[in-house]
Amino acid sequence: MTLVLGIESSCDETAAAVVRDGREVLSSIVATQAALHAPFRGVVPEIASRSHLETIVPVIAEALGAAGAEASQLSAVAVTTRPGLIGSLLVGLTAAKAFAWYHGLPLIGVDHLAAHLHAATMEEGPCALPAVALVASGGHTALYRFRSASDFEMLGSTSDDAAGEAFDKVAAMLGLAYPGGPSIEAAAAGFDVAPCLRRGEGFRLPEPSSGPFDFSFSGLKTAVRYRFHPPGQTPKKLEAEETRRLAALFQHAAVEHLARTTLAAALHEGARSVLAGGGVACNTLLRERLAAHCAKEGLALRVPRPALCADNAAMVAGLGHALFEAGRRDGFDLAALPSGAVS
Ligand code: KG4
Ligand code: ZN
Repeated sequence: MTLVLGIESSCDETAAAVVRDGREVLSSIVATQAALHAPFRGVVPEIASRSHLETIVPVIAEALGAAGAEASQLSAVAVTTRPGLIGSLLVGLTAAKAFAWYHGLPLIGVDHLAAHLHAATMEEGPCALPAVALVASGGHTALYRFRSASDFEMLGSTSDDAAGEAFDKVAAMLGLAYPGGPSIEAAAAGFDVAPCLRRGEGFRLPEPSSGPFDFSFSGLKTAVRYRFHPPGQTPKKLEAEETRRLAALFQHAAVEHLARTTLAAALHEGARSVLAGGGVACNTLLRERLAAHCAKEGLALRVPRPALCADNAAMVAGLGHALFEAGRRDGFDLAALPSGAVS
């Protein structure tokens, strides 16, 4: 039996988890800072790192306690080292180094995007290859040709905003709460876009600006604004029903863009499986649209349960376990990198 402690602090979630044999999540504690950043409608790096500093030790203790695990029973400590906010990454990495050194445990550095990809194979094991994977979060939106979480190449990525960032910015425009993804989804819930689409009121899907598997969200974001604030005019006051309608139409367009581009890449690659992860993969409509497209094309779909899509440390421990089994050990000179080294 192998128990790995995972630590994640790359953005605004302080998280720790204990995972048995790479698959069984014994505990997964996520302390979100959303309320601290909400007044600024985005993550403030300095507030994030200070909050990680206050929370990291209790979160690790809680993860061990909830798993009923002693440090002496662990086989390794895995920690996110990249990409992310440098101050935030350093808090988790320093805590992981101190913990590993004190308890004489191997230390393993994990790429955050690779961990999001790994989450899709954690619950049900390896997927049928070839596979195409979508990671859609607040900081990244990209498609990968996926063989494993340590063997993948980028097929396309966003040329402007990340998908989650677009949800967050559109929510701010519409006066909806931060983070925007869940509040847009809630505002749009139960709103039938079909009649609006028949009347031609839908937002046009963004055209790929560079490659066929690239994404673009900034034009869509501007199109939402122009519906109630045309250039050079005074903004119209948004009534509740109009807010719901715009939220639903934006969600529809963003989700179709993500789902269609993912399926186009899967068909181009002759994929047998499609994987998805990252916070935006919590979105119910996106999950439904991916499922419908994959069923139509006879592709297997792997989208982890929402708790494993949004930032968490179970995915870090899971990938750490796979790297540990493959013989990976990092030294105490392990560095944090703000940008990813993902190909
Ligand atoms: O992966 P994640 O937790 O953190 C990053 O690595 O960025 O993703 C956070 C992003 C936020 O932009 C949030 O608005 C978005 O994921 N998100 C959603 C939903 N839940 C979270 N977007 C759309 N629909 C959701 N239900
Ligand atoms: Zn993430």
